[in-house]
Amino acid sequence: MRAASALTLAVALAALATAAVPRELTSGPGAGLTAARCAICHDLEHILRSRLSRGEWEDVLANMRQRGMPPLADDEQRVILDYLAAYYGRDPAPPAAPDTFAAGGGDPVAKMLDAHACNGCHTVDRKLVGPAFRDIAAKYAADAGAAARLAAKIRSGGAGAWGDVPMPPNPKLSEADALALARWVLDRKQ
Ligand code: HEC
Ligand code: HEC
Repeated sequence: MRAASALTLAVALAALATAAVPRELTSGPGAGLTAARCAICHDLEHILRSRLSRGEWEDVLANMRQRGMPPLADDEQRVILDYLAAYYGRDPAPPAAPDTFAAGGGDPVAKMLDAHACNGCHTVDRKLVGPAFRDIAAKYAADAGAAARLAAKIRSGGAGAWGDVPMPPNPKLSEADALALARWVLDRKQ
């Protein structure tokens, strides 16, 4: 009996492993942001197999916060909920669409770079007062802990990594926004 159920379980697991499950989120506005925030602790299967209402997704997000997910900025949370409710909601999903938030325009991170005057000292491809974001991304490309460290430095400011000129602190920036900015900067490699 015990052996039989173990066998049944093994067969079931093998079937699961071979089922053609898409590993990627459907492309749509906010898909990239959702993947970036949700794949920190587990793969995206949890999303791929769910069909939940917007309210239920909101509960899931609150639950993930309790499990240690870094806080989301308000506009990020709205983008992620809109995306999840549309593509992994109770109603039939709309067709795949370009991720307009990743392509600039409504990109919440691009807006933050303006709002916090990062653009006054940094550009993506040229050194101004601070290093080019592209050079920062290249420098830390192989450094798994870079996002968290850079997020902390964006908030505290400091010098020494690129020269003697210090970056001023940004104490008003939330930890979540600083982490989003750090991840965005680290993505500028090419
Ligand atoms: C800090 C880690 C962490 C982050 C970030 C995170 N999750 Fe989770 N999530 C967990 C843990 C832990 C579980 C339960 C264990 C498991 O099933 O992997 C879980 C389970 C789930 C489940 C299964 C249902 C449940 O409540 O157990 C869903 C759905 C889910 N996560 C969605 C998300 C979404 C959507 C995001 C992004 C907005 C996200 N998670 C981000 C840690 C995290
Ligand atoms: C007044 C100019 C100034 C502003 C405003 C500024 N920075 Fe900087 N930033 C610098 C300088 C200078 C450095 C180099 C510091 C060093 O050598 O450690 C730097 C370094 C960095 C680094 C790399 C840190 C390291 O340790 O390698 C990141 C990431 C960064 N800035 C992001 C940002 C973001 C995001 C903002 C907006 C919230 C911002 N900066 C605003 C001047 C600025």
